Amino acid sequence: MKLISLKNISFAYPGGRTLLEELNFDLNSGEQVGIIGPNGSGKTTLVHIIMGLIKPLSGQIEIFGQEINGEKDFQKIRPRIGFVFQNADDQLIYPTVLEDVAFGPLNLGYSPDKAKELARATLARLGLSAFEQRLTHHLSGGEKKLVSIATVLVMQPEALIFDEPTTALDEQTREKLIQIIGELDIARIIISHDYDFLAQTTKKQYLMNKGRLVFDPSVVMHKHVHVHPLGHVPHKHEE
Ligand SMILES: Nc1ncnc2c1ncn2[C@@H]1O[C@H](COP(=O)(O)OP(=O)(O)OP(=O)(O)O)[C@@H](O)[C@H]1O
Ligand SMILES: [Mg+2]
Repeated sequence: MKLISLKNISFAYPGGRTLLEELNFDLNSGEQVGIIGPNGSGKTTLVHIIMGLIKPLSGQIEIFGQEINGEKDFQKIRPRIGFVFQNADDQLIYPTVLEDVAFGPLNLGYSPDKAKELARATLARLGLSAFEQRLTHHLSGGEKKLVSIATVLVMQPEALIFDEPTTALDEQTREKLIQIIGELDIARIIISHDYDFLAQTTKKQYLMNKGRLVFDPSVVMHKHVHVHPLGHVPHKHEE
């Protein structure tokens, strides 16, 4: 079954260049797709179109088999797709971490107690139990990113769209995120500049190129040896 189907999507911001041009894309059940591409190539714009945050100039969108035509249709599908914004500040709205994570389940109709219970369980799963009462606007960049991921996972979505989930994460936290995503058996679209991360969290990778998503099997994702600071200090790579 097709979870997301985009047909001939074109888009330009007002006064801007054509960013997406007759773009076609399908995400099938269970499919795990990565998107890479240069800064400014339209990756974030594309997923904002899928979530109904931006309206395409032309083209058709079908989600969960339904044609999506306006805000009312998007309101029905948004709770079913876990969307992590590139910028965590766009995701976090409540003063405390617990309130922010409990908001989704509350909105789904759970009682305040049940919503908090679900939020606590999700925070625990991400190793964030100590953050429950912290003020979200006082969190570090990486902490905000993790909490924004918690606000999405707590909803038990049917599909995930992650826009640059590793930004601001340290190596250990990034590894934890790979493990958490690996435990989720659901369809996903992950946008990242981190090739290794995409190789470990997705099975098929597209390149955003000239306004379209191009599947290029020659772009083989791999774990690679890389140049990095302190490379002269004796150390071990895992592979
Ligand atoms: N609201 C907006 N109004 C006008 N132009 C915008 C707006 N949002 C983004 N753009 C422009 O559209 C282009 C695509 O932006 P987008 O955020 O989709 O790129 P991206 O592929 O996600 O890049 P990155 O890898 O840096 O996240 C950029 O040139 C950007 O400056
Ligand atoms: Mg982006």
